[in-house]
Amino acid sequence: ERGEYRHYMQKEIHEQPVAIEKTLDGRIRAGHVLDAAFGPLAEKAFDHIRSVQIVACGTSYHAGMVARYWMEAIAGLPCSVEVASEFRYRKHVVPPGTLFVSISQSGETADTLAALKEAKHLGYVHTLAICNVPESSIVRESESTLMTRAGLEVGVASTKAFTTQLTALLLLVVALGKRNALSAGQEAKIVKELESLPEQIRHVLRLEDEIQAWAEQFGDKQHALYLGRGAQYPVAMEGALKLKEISYIHAEAYPSGELKHGPLALIDDQMPVVAVAPNNELLEKLKSNLQEVHARGGQLYVFADVDAPMENVPGVKLLRVAATDEVVAPIVYTVPLQMLAYHVALIKGTDVDQPRNLAKSVTVE
Ligand code: M6R
Repeated sequence: ERGEYRHYMQKEIHEQPVAIEKTLDGRIRAGHVLDAAFGPLAEKAFDHIRSVQIVACGTSYHAGMVARYWMEAIAGLPCSVEVASEFRYRKHVVPPGTLFVSISQSGETADTLAALKEAKHLGYVHTLAICNVPESSIVRESESTLMTRAGLEVGVASTKAFTTQLTALLLLVVALGKRNALSAGQEAKIVKELESLPEQIRHVLRLEDEIQAWAEQFGDKQHALYLGRGAQYPVAMEGALKLKEISYIHAEAYPSGELKHGPLALIDDQMPVVAVAPNNELLEKLKSNLQEVHARGGQLYVFADVDAPMENVPGVKLLRVAATDEVVAPIVYTVPLQMLAYHVALIKGTDVDQPRNLAKSVTVE
């Protein structure tokens, strides 16, 4: 069933445009996100939602972190995100009118399921699951569900589940946002971006040969640093997690503004630094962070928007990503980081689909 692909992970990376199309199918129309996508929950509760609490693990947690940036910037609603294993064991204040959102590919992650049960016990009235497996425990335990339609994901390293989670989360942000800070014009613009996402990702997938060439230079490295700012910070975290999981290279992500508060001490010519640089108002700041890395001998691998002026940044290996709108940029920029991790793992000869010590679905604490 892998067809032309060497591994399920590679196949699943390439399935993302279709998986996103399916996740959007029947949920957007004529510039609107349809309430029906959320079942009866939208009508029953969305008008009264004042804040959002997201809980998840691993890659799904990173999706939640991106959603937090969106929820506050686009919907104007306060949003907290926490890893499930922390959420379930601490004391909470439950703000009234808070929607509890759990995110899980499998729907069987023990910590996420336990956090959801705990949330209901604590008094969260409305629960929504963003999940890829129908009839899973988390779906059954939730009041309402927004299914990602990624299809079966075999690779332990999650790829298409993540980008479809982001797609689903953006639908949620818009559905809540239009009851709050989001105008009809802004809604229509985001819907248009969502519609063009599959094509934008197809564009990025064509960078695979160049990314493979970059990967050669990671084969003998022990560590790598990933940088991003704003909603690209969790994207950097997700890129670092992919590299760790399947190539066993230690990778860490930092919001680039934190570099000089410690990690800069790690930079030398053995430390590749990967950065995502969409063309937004933080670009100039990111560029000065990159210069700091270059000045210390760090090797820079930057994915930048075609329109981002990068000429004056020295020592940068650059791959251009087709110009993308800032809102959907985290989804688009995830894809080259997935491909980079995949090709580094190939060079290292690891078991890409079944990395050591890991399980696809973590049903124990
Ligand atoms: O099935 P879930 O989304 O609940 O799984 C959560 C994590 O175990 C999962 O995302 C894990 O981090 C992946 N191996 C990441 O690639």
